[in-house]
Amino acid sequence: MAVEIWPVTESFAAEVGDADLSKPLSAEDWRTVEEAFHEYAVLIFPDQRLTQRQHVDFALRFGPIDPVKTFVAGVAPRVPVDIADVSNLTADAKPYDENSRLRGFQMGNRLWHTDSSFKEVPAKASLLYMRSIPPVGGQTEFADMRAAWDVLPDDLKCRVEGRIACHAIAFSRARLGHEMSETETAEFPTVPQAMVRHHGYSGRTGLYLAAHAGRIDGMADDEAGALIQRLMDHATQRQFVYTHRWRTGDLVMWDNRCTMHRGLAFDDLRWPRDAQRATALDVAPTCEQEGLTPDGIAVAAE
Ligand code: OGA
Ligand code: MN
Repeated sequence: MAVEIWPVTESFAAEVGDADLSKPLSAEDWRTVEEAFHEYAVLIFPDQRLTQRQHVDFALRFGPIDPVKTFVAGVAPRVPVDIADVSNLTADAKPYDENSRLRGFQMGNRLWHTDSSFKEVPAKASLLYMRSIPPVGGQTEFADMRAAWDVLPDDLKCRVEGRIACHAIAFSRARLGHEMSETETAEFPTVPQAMVRHHGYSGRTGLYLAAHAGRIDGMADDEAGALIQRLMDHATQRQFVYTHRWRTGDLVMWDNRCTMHRGLAFDDLRWPRDAQRATALDVAPTCEQEGLTPDGIAVAAE
């Protein structure tokens, strides 16, 4: 049976039926999935049964794997190196303690963001596989940055077109009052990212923003902060947002180039939520893709 695309919203999220991701897709099914990924930025593959190897193999169809670095020194990873552990679990599969540093760090996922925008070459596709879910809460929300761009007032479009924002993991963690150590910060210096991206694969344009964005190249910091906040508020209005209510075995993949996402709260000290992510990298730095040259402020300022 060939895979089938079932739209969940008009143009942003779709379910993919009759896809068994534990096996390589036929050439025809792959084409259907890739086309759907370009049209819809969020694809839901229900009822999967995947090993970690199969999960990574499917992600590799979209690009090289975004290497995972443990952000919290001294904590042994629970999953293979190609997979990001976004669960709330320790190595013995128990929910984190209230004051654990990893728990604090994972709280960053509760803020609107796009994956790895704090790296020079950010993520293209994220594939999040849900192995167990809490009975309530813990949904993931997605914001459609292309739809948000389409109706952005012209004066704002002019202010951001061709602009470069500075992204750093330290900016998003600072919003939570989570202080990073010097070594942690040194490992992830501030990087420049285009604020507007023109997507050849869909012929559409989208805002590119995240909680990781802290400054704008060539703009005073307070003005930049206010502008970033205004754009985030615009892009995350209800009409641009799809909320995914997870079922065990869902694999949801999203296009980081034209979406933001955030995890919603749940009783994470009580319920396990075992979410694992394999992530495919984009092809080049966003400024390079947009033909923008950072004037030095974005790169140098720390
Ligand atoms: C992620 C992420 C949110 C969630 O996997 O990149 O931000 O709901 N996840 O787990
Ligand atoms: Mn994320």
